[in-house]
Amino acid sequence: MKKLGNPKSFSKTIFSLAFFTMFALGVSAQEAVAAAAPAAVAAAPATGSGDPVKGKELFNTNCAACHKLDAKMTGPALRGVGDKYDKEWLYKWIKNSSDLIKSGDAKAVKVYEEFAKANMTAFPQLSNGDIDNIIAYTMEVAPAAETPDPKKSVDPDSGDGVSNNLILGVLAFVLGILVFMLVTVKRLLKNVIESKGLEVAEAPKGLPFWKAFVKNQFLMVVTAILFLLISAYFMYGYFMQIGVDKGYEPIQPIHYSHKIHAGENGIDCKYCHSSARVSKNAGIPSLNVCMNCHKNIAEFQGSKDSTYVEYTKEFYTGEIQKLYDAVGWDKATQKYTGKTKPVKWVRIHNLPDFVYFNHSQHVTVGGIECQKCHGKVESFEVMKQDQPLTMGWCINCHRETNVKVEDNGYYKKIHEQLSKKLGVDKLTAAQMGGLECGKCHY
Ligand code: HEC
Ligand code: HEC
Ligand code: HEC
Ligand code: HEC
Ligand code: HEC
Ligand code: HEC
Repeated sequence: MKKLGNPKSFSKTIFSLAFFTMFALGVSAQEAVAAAAPAAVAAAPATGSGDPVKGKELFNTNCAACHKLDAKMTGPALRGVGDKYDKEWLYKWIKNSSDLIKSGDAKAVKVYEEFAKANMTAFPQLSNGDIDNIIAYTMEVAPAAETPDPKKSVDPDSGDGVSNNLILGVLAFVLGILVFMLVTVKRLLKNVIESKGLEVAEAPKGLPFWKAFVKNQFLMVVTAILFLLISAYFMYGYFMQIGVDKGYEPIQPIHYSHKIHAGENGIDCKYCHSSARVSKNAGIPSLNVCMNCHKNIAEFQGSKDSTYVEYTKEFYTGEIQKLYDAVGWDKATQKYTGKTKPVKWVRIHNLPDFVYFNHSQHVTVGGIECQKCHGKVESFEVMKQDQPLTMGWCINCHRETNVKVEDNGYYKKIHEQLSKKLGVDKLTAAQMGGLECGKCHY
């Protein structure tokens, strides 16, 4: 008797076809959304001759102490100031406003009176090109109001929910049609087979998987052993972790981002952790150090090429405000109010009291980079402990790391003697005595 293929395999083909179509559609829909995004960014208006990116930099260093784009501070809000005055007037004003006022220029006198005769600094050092750049920056359109939610929603539907819903709807529709076709074809095939009186090959019937498994003694024993081994492995790992705080990442009173400071703005670690070079502790900078810059940086702008996916600009600006509250700085009057409340940073790295660790020994004498022991700090949005800080960790590095002797007055002599004695070219920290208990334990 003639045998036909199992119709089930046919329906499988259709199902996988349907699945594949859905997948392909999904991918192309995502691509479409992604392609649409840069187009929207590029739609910013032309701002004349200046370069707004350079202008922003100039603005932040020279003008931000007294001006904001959208709010009055010591001076007026500057957004759109290029429309208010002509270029020549602006060149004169910015280079030396008091000269312009003295010359009796009507517009200049009017602003001067309006601002209670406060004096604006003269900027003779700025070229016309610089001023063009600043004006280009002030002419940028204000960003659309963002959600006040500090954490941006990670929901991929947000923003273009309508189009995504549409795509989902179309997908569901296509899928529905496919399923309908499948059922119809299957019924049709069955009818054909029955009408011809043919026999359909049955799929071979076996024991269900779990029954076969339970019946097989050998498999059971092997599985049990495997299970025990794996749990022992994890138990061991767990017990070895007690007291090890690798990955510890507490929430700090001010959301201070190393990524933004040390990464994007390239501030040197030792600018803030200055004692790392000369003393045992690296230390946390006092808030006065922060104010060296933040007297002038009241508002978070962010760099153009960065995507702040996790937090909004409003959130960051709010965090700078927390710094102001802590040091008692009134950004409207640009004066200290005298009302301070100390910030209590949560300590992250903490060796037990019986261990002696010295930063200058490693950073200055050993020439070891901070990143070796603290990870890629310049990419941390939130500070965390990157390394285990166990005894094994210290010892391993002492065994592996050669002491830098070039240009190192500390070691010239001892290195010559020791390497002769041990008959080696290079000395590791361990060979210099870095494994002696007393060096690390009081
Ligand atoms: C020390 C504070 C201070 C600094 C720094 C400062 N300004 Fe001003 N600016 C003022 C004050 C105050 C006024 C209001 C006029 C007056 O009283 O002289 C003003 C007015 C202006 C005006 C006129 C705005 C209007 O709407 O009439 C412009 C334009 C301007 N500043 C641009 C700049 C630029 C550009 C910089 C940076 C290169 C800058 N200012 C830096 C204090 C400052
Ligand atoms: C603008 C100042 C500043 C700069 C620059 C800076 N830090 Fe920090 N750092 C801080 C502040 C403030 C804290 C405390 C808040 C925190 O833990 O996030 C801190 C905390 C730390 C900690 C954790 C301290 C603890 O509690 O155990 C380490 C480690 C650290 N910084 C390393 C670095 C390294 C490495 C760099 C350079 C890549 C760097 N920092 C650059 C200000 C700075
Ligand atoms: C050398 C200059 C400098 C110093 C010192 C400095 N900052 Fe900043 N800070 C910046 C710059 C630049 C930005 C980014 C501004 C922008 O992109 O608009 C910033 C942004 C911030 C922000 C918003 C982004 C974030 O990290 O959450 C906070 C909050 C902040 N600083 C707090 C501090 C604190 C606290 C200190 C002292 C421990 C400090 N800053 C020291 C330059 C500095
Ligand atoms: C050889 C490894 C190593 C290097 C290199 C190193 N650190 Fe540390 N750091 C540590 C250890 C270990 C601790 C914990 C110290 C303790 O608890 O006494 C620590 C603690 C800190 C702390 C917390 C505050 C303190 O002083 O205890 C800061 C901040 C810090 N390091 C910053 C830095 C900076 C910035 C550099 C680079 C200039 C650096 N570290 C280089 C191992 C290192
Ligand atoms: C990244 C590698 C590295 C790590 C991690 C490290 N060390 Fe070191 N350590 C060195 C080197 C290199 C020297 C030799 C520096 C020198 O004196 O020239 C050194 C020197 C020392 C010395 C002085 C030894 C002597 O002969 O005088 C002490 C003490 C010490 N380390 C303690 C520690 C402790 C405690 C830890 C762990 C918390 C640690 N170190 C982690 C690399 C490391
Ligand atoms: C390079 C530095 C270093 C040297 C050398 C060193 N230790 Fe340690 N030791 C440490 C650190 C760091 C810890 C803390 C580990 C932790 O907190 O998990 C520690 C912890 C210990 C502990 C407590 C047990 C524990 O895990 O908390 C004992 C005991 C100890 N060390 C004994 C010794 C003896 C004995 C020697 C000499 C053979 C020695 N150590 C040499 C760095 C060192």
